[in-house]
Amino acid sequence: MSELLHVAHEADLPGLSALAARTFPLACPPELDREVIAAFVAENLSEEAFRRYLEVPDHEVLVAREGDGDGRDAGEPVGYVLLVAGTAMDPACEGQIVHRPTTGISKFYVHPGYHGVGIAARMLDDVTRRSRRRGVRSLWLATNVANTRARRFYVKHGFRARGERTFDVGGVANADVVYELTL
Ligand SMILES: CC(C)(COP(=O)(O)OP(=O)(O)OC[C@H]1O[C@@H](n2cnc3c(N)ncnc32)[C@H](O)[C@@H]1OP(=O)(O)O)[C@@H](O)C(=O)NCCC(=O)NCCS
Repeated sequence: MSELLHVAHEADLPGLSALAARTFPLACPPELDREVIAAFVAENLSEEAFRRYLEVPDHEVLVAREGDGDGRDAGEPVGYVLLVAGTAMDPACEGQIVHRPTTGISKFYVHPGYHGVGIAARMLDDVTRRSRRRGVRSLWLATNVANTRARRFYVKHGFRARGERTFDVGGVANADVVYELTL
């Protein structure tokens, strides 16, 4: 099957930041204040923020576009992934990750209109295939304890819980579960 994920480029930035703003609240606990979420989105998921992710070493933005086309001719982004090599996305989690080299999945988001249809699974397959090709031995991530859908998805695809971490969103501490997938 052809790869669904493609390396994002400048032309994707407006669509990516719109998708990120639409989907980030879905991963937040219901009690988290909407203004706190909006401030996080403005700081970390704007076009400018995504431009930085394209430029910063050891970061990679991958995008799945509508229509499942082969890259530039396809439509709007329907899913995206932000990868960060090693444990740099949260060094406090370093001790929980068993296998090296590892890559952190900092963001893994699918438009709600495409949940439950297998796109997320294909995106994860692409990430694991790309990572294996590079000699990466594990993928790790952290997701909110209340994000039961994402947790079910990750466990279903072989991730194992390694522990917990605290994730700060606008000064509010959120409890996340740390997961690792052995490749
Ligand atoms: C997490 C995400 C990528 C998973 O993609 P998806 O297409 O929804 O995944 P799937 O439908 O294949 O799997 C979800 C599983 O959770 C189950 N599920 C759905 N809603 C659920 C809920 N409220 N509680 C528990 N499980 C739930 C589904 O039934 C399915 O399990 P099953 O295949 O055993 O039936 C997608 O939901 C998403 O983008 N969510 C919003 C953003 C997010 O939370 N990203 C992760 C941040 S780390």
